[in-house]
Amino acid sequence: MAREFSTVGVVGLGTMGAGIVEVFARNGIDVVAVEISAPALERGRATLKGSTDRAVAKGKLAEADRDALHERVHFAVGLDALHSVDLVIEAVPEHLDLKQRIFAELDRVCRPETILATNTSSLSVTEISVATSRPNQVIGIHFFNPAPVMKLVEVVRTVVTAPEVVADVEALCARLGKVDVTINDRAGFIANALLFGYLNHAVGMFESHYATREDIDAAMKLGCGLPMGPLALMDLIGLDTAYEILDTMYRRGGRDRRHAPVPLLKQMVTAGLLGRKSGRGFYTYERPGSPVVVPDEATPLATDAALADGARAIAKVGVVGSGTMATGIIEVFAKAGYEVVSVTRGMEKSAKVCEAVKTSLNKGVVRGKLAEADRDAALGRISWSATLDHLADVDLVVEAVVEELSVKKALFASLDEICKPGVVLATTTSSLPVIDVAMATQRPADVVGLHFFNPAPVMPLVEVVRTIRTSPEATATARAVCAALGKTGVVCGDRSGFIVNALLFPYLNDAVKMLEASYSTADDIDHAMKLGCGYPMGPFELLDVVGLDVSLAIQRELYLELREPGFAPAPLLEHLVTAGYLGRKTRRGFRDHSHR
Ligand SMILES: NC(=O)c1ccc[n+]([C@@H]2O[C@H](COP(=O)([O-])OP(=O)(O)OC[C@H]3O[C@@H](n4cnc5c(N)ncnc54)[C@H](O)[C@@H]3O)[C@@H](O)[C@H]2O)c1
Repeated sequence: MAREFSTVGVVGLGTMGAGIVEVFARNGIDVVAVEISAPALERGRATLKGSTDRAVAKGKLAEADRDALHERVHFAVGLDALHSVDLVIEAVPEHLDLKQRIFAELDRVCRPETILATNTSSLSVTEISVATSRPNQVIGIHFFNPAPVMKLVEVVRTVVTAPEVVADVEALCARLGKVDVTINDRAGFIANALLFGYLNHAVGMFESHYATREDIDAAMKLGCGLPMGPLALMDLIGLDTAYEILDTMYRRGGRDRRHAPVPLLKQMVTAGLLGRKSGRGFYTYERPGSPVVVPDEATPLATDAALADGARAIAKVGVVGSGTMATGIIEVFAKAGYEVVSVTRGMEKSAKVCEAVKTSLNKGVVRGKLAEADRDAALGRISWSATLDHLADVDLVVEAVVEELSVKKALFASLDEICKPGVVLATTTSSLPVIDVAMATQRPADVVGLHFFNPAPVMPLVEVVRTIRTSPEATATARAVCAALGKTGVVCGDRSGFIVNALLFPYLNDAVKMLEASYSTADDIDHAMKLGCGYPMGPFELLDVVGLDVSLAIQRELYLELREPGFAPAPLLEHLVTAGYLGRKTRRGFRDHSHR
């Protein structure tokens, strides 16, 4: 029989604590909610009220249930109020000495059988536990932000945590409607170990002006389907908390430089820019604690006029190539009203591409997303050619041929001879340096990267890559074209992986390393990222979809260009590729897909 928890204590009512109180009270459990001072207690009470009022306003909580919820919470200053609770969850700031002091005090105040839990994200639960006389009753219960919403709880057992304590806490998580994964005590556990290198990297991109905050966040939301971008997430977590987590992970997790907090973070924390809780972090909020972003001096002007500023007029577009990307891009431009000249290496290929575009447009008609007349108009705008000479009068060329530098360079040299002056020349490369392609022409200022995502007609994101020679007009033109296509164009520098792949693949590689180290299973890791961070797919699901060979190639490129030791491809990934386990396309990758 699992232990009954009728009263729990929560220590610290900040970002996490207030949410944890709500989780317990919502599930019929009495809570003693403790803070360090009366003003902090009031803040915690206000956070709980704000959150439950929002739930009522959204129709997710009945008014009577909200009132009953509040009646279950008893607020108090000081730990003495916790003398008769069954379980305590500590959620004070991420400092080992503070947590150890609180645990020593809890050990004195609480009954001998009370379980003492920490919500730490990165500190050693074991080190916290030895501050008490009952380390076997100390455990990590790591909730995710926002606690009432995110389904995952990481249950962290130390080498001395009693098995029945683990079982009791697992049963409690189920009662709270949460999904738990139980793991050993390692810095960052599953989710944060995979998340924080990525978040820190994104801050580094922002710090080095590689891309704007809006573009970094839009790239990850639209390119990967994440619920929020990394900088908005940092603001939600709290920059002080994020700094401490990174710092601890750096020191405990093998001094991986990717966890060494980017200097800007420390500066922002020192300046009091803590994220949502202080009203300002990477973004500015309506008021402290509010989730509503308001414009500030860094907010870009989103008007059409601003987008078109300096942009050249584009009416006719050439698309070179006959693969998946070229086919999708032809469709996207034609549907948006551009005249399109498709150039392939032969009329047979052109016929195939034409068929593929027709099939795709017809699907749109069948699904009711496209009128027949619009389909016919789109097809009518496309001309099919097997010679580059037909690009003499286009305003923009989008190259989507095979990913080989020599082929692309030769093509750009030809385009340079054929195209009229002032044309923007774009490459869709996902891994080659755009500047190499640009320098094959006499007009590098007119060359940009236009990195579409697959399938191009569906994916809302395009990375606009500017090299150190790209002119502001060419960049503005590319951005305006993306907007006219109904896509979000994000501008970034010419570095391996641009924004999305540079942030995504090291995280996937880290997941493989975690699996290889037998810290957890592929299922639990996938669960953790989906239920703890709201990712649409777990890393192993995504790797099997993308293809292990493709993932390995991208990771190798990143490693070679950035020379970051932490980017070295996981040996397990290399071995699976060598063994021919490439993912869904070979029916076996991290998982066996032969029966699906
Ligand atoms: N922020 C996140 O997204 C997140 C997610 C999961 C876990 N965590 C972990 O949760 C813990 C709390 O983080 P947070 O982001 O909620 O921090 P926070 O700074 O928002 O809140 C901490 C609260 O603890 C209170 N406090 C400080 N000393 C206290 C004491 N002696 N007694 C009682 N209360 C005290 C503070 O007044 C503050 O309200 C940390 O260990 C953190 O790593 C954070």
